[in-house]
Amino acid sequence: MAIPKMDPTSTKAWKNLEAHFNKMQDVEMKNLFAQDEKRAEKFTISWEDFYVDFSKNRITEETFKLLLQLADEVQLKEAMQAYFSGEVINETEKREVLHTALRAPKDADIKVEGVSVMPEIFSVKQKIKDFSEAVISGNKKGFTNKAFTDVVNIGIGGSDLGPAMVVDSLQFYKNQLTTHFVSNVDGDHVNEVIKKLDPETTLFVIVSKTFTTQETLSNATTIKKWFLKSAKQEDIAKHFVAVSTNLEKVQDFGVDANNIFPMWNWVGGRFSLWSAVGLTISLAVGNENFEKLLLGANKMDTHFKTEDFKSNIPVVLALISVWYNNFFNAESEAVIPYSQYLNQFATYLQQGIMESNGKSVDRNGKPISYQTGTIIWGEPGTNAQHAFFQLIHQGTKLIPADFIGFAESLHGNKEHQDKLMSNFFAQTEALLNGKDANQVIAEGTEETLVPFKVFAGNKPTNTIFINKLSPESLGKLIAMYEHKIFVQGVIWNIFSYDQFGVELGKQLAGKILKEFEKDSFTNHDSSTLNLLKHYKNLTK
Ligand code: F6P
Repeated sequence: MAIPKMDPTSTKAWKNLEAHFNKMQDVEMKNLFAQDEKRAEKFTISWEDFYVDFSKNRITEETFKLLLQLADEVQLKEAMQAYFSGEVINETEKREVLHTALRAPKDADIKVEGVSVMPEIFSVKQKIKDFSEAVISGNKKGFTNKAFTDVVNIGIGGSDLGPAMVVDSLQFYKNQLTTHFVSNVDGDHVNEVIKKLDPETTLFVIVSKTFTTQETLSNATTIKKWFLKSAKQEDIAKHFVAVSTNLEKVQDFGVDANNIFPMWNWVGGRFSLWSAVGLTISLAVGNENFEKLLLGANKMDTHFKTEDFKSNIPVVLALISVWYNNFFNAESEAVIPYSQYLNQFATYLQQGIMESNGKSVDRNGKPISYQTGTIIWGEPGTNAQHAFFQLIHQGTKLIPADFIGFAESLHGNKEHQDKLMSNFFAQTEALLNGKDANQVIAEGTEETLVPFKVFAGNKPTNTIFINKLSPESLGKLIAMYEHKIFVQGVIWNIFSYDQFGVELGKQLAGKILKEFEKDSFTNHDSSTLNLLKHYKNLTK
């Protein structure tokens, strides 16, 4: 069955939540804690190595009950079944959404058009494993018979952000290969990477689901030309591999048929790091670690599929986010990992969350009257504290935040870890409790300065506390957000798996590029026209 097409605002739960919001909007979380000593326990989910405390939210048991009713009323359970079993839930592109199959066990019963997808998945997995091992061990060599030292991933969007984020996050687990990522069509990006490379020892992984993306094809072409200055045409087969669904176009580009790692239309770009799109991950951290990443994601899939909604991490996080987005009118959400390794995590999530749920037409094709996709942003703590935390603490906007922390540091520096984690715990405590005028006065603050030093508090946070950053726990964390995206898309009655919004700009850029060649510009507003002429004059 398809995902039900129901306006969430027409549900009983939504109406009750609206009425309930009127009672809740000024409630102070610190009072809720004072009234119930079991509050933290009630609103914490402990699962495997994850400890998710969502008690520092502006919710009561009544709020939670109503949010869970909303999930039931929009038929989330049925939608999940459609998602996992390979129904065509990406209706606008007529596709299944099966990134979960990529991390499922071999004997999983997952079919597309009546045929199991598992044999194909496992044959590509084997190819990824064999290839990665041959490159890492040095058995596979470049055109002058030297082992590879560098790997360049050429891709953009989902063909870049996932692998780039995971390789960066798992750098502790990295082998001797140096990895680079080229994504932007900005020629300075590719040239900065090229200048660090030796053509004899560099492997290029071109990743493009469609193999039609301007950025990726331009970068791959520039790199190929540079490579051919030192090598011969037939050497391309040793140095260029590609990941794509478009086998014909890859071969037209010159990649050897044996060097193509297939993927499938039922894997969305922003959910594709689990497929051969993750080849650079497998090369950088080894196939065993890549498989552990997949295993972690699979464990989160099982948790999401089987756990009661009230203790289901992605469901609970999604519902809380809907509560702020649609009732408190919060515009954005921050994700603050207390690990420098997760430096690129928020950037990665931006595509997943904003490309998926940035929609204003519902599943019936009708304009939407309520808010959908949240704006997502963040940076690692403690750096973030010295950048934008001022606004979270004392600004006028409500910014719910996920704090992600790990008990163990990977290099084992306990002194630093205690300092890091003391900040991690202190910030959510400060955001909860704030500091009132009496406390500020008691500190001996000069009277005129008191208002400036008051912290309102009552700022919501989720604490996602994990034992240790490992390939497996990272897999769980990524899958957790993937399912949060799904749940929110179901509630908001939107199609989360298309991205038509990125097309218009691409089309216009194509038109302008042609106009540059002809040096004649037509059908532009006066602002764009002046800018184009100014550019032309400056670059004559
Ligand atoms: O940004 C639009 C988009 O289509 C993404 O969804 C996708 O991840 C990216 O472009 C790259 O596409 P491809 O892998 O086909 O080159």
